[in-house]
Amino acid sequence: MAGGWFETVAEAQRRAKKRLPKSVYMALVAGSERGLTVDDNTAAFGELGFAPHVAGLSGKRELGTTVMGQPASMPVLISPTGVQAVHPDGEVAVARAAAARGIPMGLSSFASKSIEEVAAASPQTFFQMYWVGTRDVLVQRMERARAAGAVGLIMTLDWSFSNGRDWGSPAIPEKVDLKAALKFGPEVALRLPWLLDFAKSGKIPDLTTPNLAPPGGTAPTFFGAYGEWMGTPLPTWEDVAWLREQWGGPFMLKGVMRVDDAKRAVDAGVSAISVSNHGGNNLDGTPASIRALPPIADAVGDQVEVLLDGGVRRGGDVVKALGLGAKAVLIGRAYLWGLAANGQAGVENVLDILRGGIDSAVLGLGRDSVQDIDRSDVVVPDGFVRALGV
Ligand SMILES: Cc1cc2nc3c(=O)[nH]c(=O)nc-3n(C[C@H](O)[C@H](O)[C@H](O)COP(=O)(O)O)c2cc1C
Repeated sequence: MAGGWFETVAEAQRRAKKRLPKSVYMALVAGSERGLTVDDNTAAFGELGFAPHVAGLSGKRELGTTVMGQPASMPVLISPTGVQAVHPDGEVAVARAAAARGIPMGLSSFASKSIEEVAAASPQTFFQMYWVGTRDVLVQRMERARAAGAVGLIMTLDWSFSNGRDWGSPAIPEKVDLKAALKFGPEVALRLPWLLDFAKSGKIPDLTTPNLAPPGGTAPTFFGAYGEWMGTPLPTWEDVAWLREQWGGPFMLKGVMRVDDAKRAVDAGVSAISVSNHGGNNLDGTPASIRALPPIADAVGDQVEVLLDGGVRRGGDVVKALGLGAKAVLIGRAYLWGLAANGQAGVENVLDILRGGIDSAVLGLGRDSVQDIDRSDVVVPDGFVRALGV
């Protein structure tokens, strides 16, 4: 298989850049406006340090945990990402990798593969929804996910339709037709291995969102679905509580950055929150999610499971997040680079890199288990934390 094994997530990203057409690569780089938030998400992890021990270390470390009732072989989950055309097997390859490595998988409602295919590949699939469409439509999509075997729901609310990036947004065709082929031909032609993968699979990327199709109807295009979203009245906290009630099972609210919102999420009855700024793709100038984590974990960590996503690129980052109060993290771009670089094996490779890094950090910190990591393990510089909404 093209690509082969890689040593770090940074190397996976370099290979993804070489392999993907520029538009697809830039859609994964994403970010918004000046890129302050996307940059801070990764930079902030670099400001944190470790306080390692040197002897009396544990010969065997326990890395497993549970999230929303699901066992996870390490405190890492696949974050839902609505991206298209990265790999012909798309989210099914990611789900297979997640299942092979024993971690739960979040599937975006804007994903390129159906919840039926993905839940068949991973028995631990959480379905992610935005607030799109009427209440009836929301329930219908949710019930479809339940029927397919989804074991949890992720509601993502941090989206404010910001657009524009100083480094330019990728042009994405509405659908792949002759016009698009002519426009994108030159950049695609420069990416033969990527194109060959799609050719071998007998599919061309169709840029549709199968999980947003009406019952028995055809899947809307990515932009058609985005239009429906933009036209939907914005949700209230009562709406969040209502959807949670309709679902009835494990329910995560993703995108919380403030202590007051975290408390409202608890009041709405959620089982988990992810402290997240949408990977820096939303409101630029929002601090790194890891900076906002400690006060939120202090405020609600004993009432709901507190997760974090944004900027995780190595196992050490995962352990830093645990030290600052997260139960587990979700990863976005890290696995997307792996998928682009080497399909399912590339995602497994990324998960193995994270596992190795987590194990090294737990070992160096003299802990027996990820459950024992605490704030004393992490060196937090003065002024690092941003306590929002206190
Ligand atoms: C290309 C891309 C598409 C995304 N699409 C979604 C989505 O459809 N739903 C969602 O809840 N989050 C989405 N996210 C956000 C991720 O779930 C996650 O919050 C973010 O990627 C974490 O930051 P990281 O990429 O630095 O790990 C997307 C992120 C990226 C990079």
